Amino acid sequence: MNVPRIIIAIDGYSSTGKSSFAKLIAEELGFIHLDSGALYRAVTLYALRHDMIDYRNRVDENALLEALMSLSITLKHTKKGTETYLEGENVDVPIRQMDVSNAVSPVSAIPFVRNFVDKLLHKYAKEGGVVMDGRDIGTNVFPSAQLKIFMTADTRVRAERRFAEMKNSGKKLSVEEVMKNLEERDYIDSHRAVSPLKKADDAIVLDNTDMTLSQQMEWLRKILEERWG
Ligand code: DC
Repeated sequence: MNVPRIIIAIDGYSSTGKSSFAKLIAEELGFIHLDSGALYRAVTLYALRHDMIDYRNRVDENALLEALMSLSITLKHTKKGTETYLEGENVDVPIRQMDVSNAVSPVSAIPFVRNFVDKLLHKYAKEGGVVMDGRDIGTNVFPSAQLKIFMTADTRVRAERRFAEMKNSGKKLSVEEVMKNLEERDYIDSHRAVSPLKKADDAIVLDNTDMTLSQQMEWLRKILEERWG
């Protein structure tokens, strides 16, 4: 298979396995993987650490806007995947913890935050050969991406997958709590005014409720072969 150095956009609901799938595709094609959610999470972590988000998830937008003028968020591509750095610190673990998951949707609904992240994504994708996952990649960040996938799966199945991941990392939460967080994020992400989560008209839907990662890869290989043989 000779896939040119295109941009593959993967969007979809929370915990549908977008990042795991994107990472595997990137490995197979020798592309880089850009996880746009990790960038929103890094901004959120910064805002939490600097008391810019109150207990009701209200964001101090003036303080955050000023901070973003000089905030350093960088990505490093390694053999193990793409790492996320906030002010020089690797934050791949803290950005995936529940405090960040609970606050990230309101932060990512702020237009100047989206602008900040979009600029970073364009910078890192300028050479092509990229698999990028998020909520608005195919609709807004790269509307001309040559391949767009929209991922979905049954909500309980998604919550159980996320629950299993969190259990391994020692977190004590019930499946119901995880499901509530997923549903809230899906709701905010799909209903916000700026770049809401929605399927691009030309995206192919992948419902992976009953699929393993290798079955998803098989599904993708057929599409790549049909298009780029
Ligand atoms: O993919 P994720 O769960 O790590 O993303 C975290 C949050 O970031 C998600 O709830 C919505 C937001 N996000 C977004 O608004 N747009 C993107 N392109 C990616 C993520």
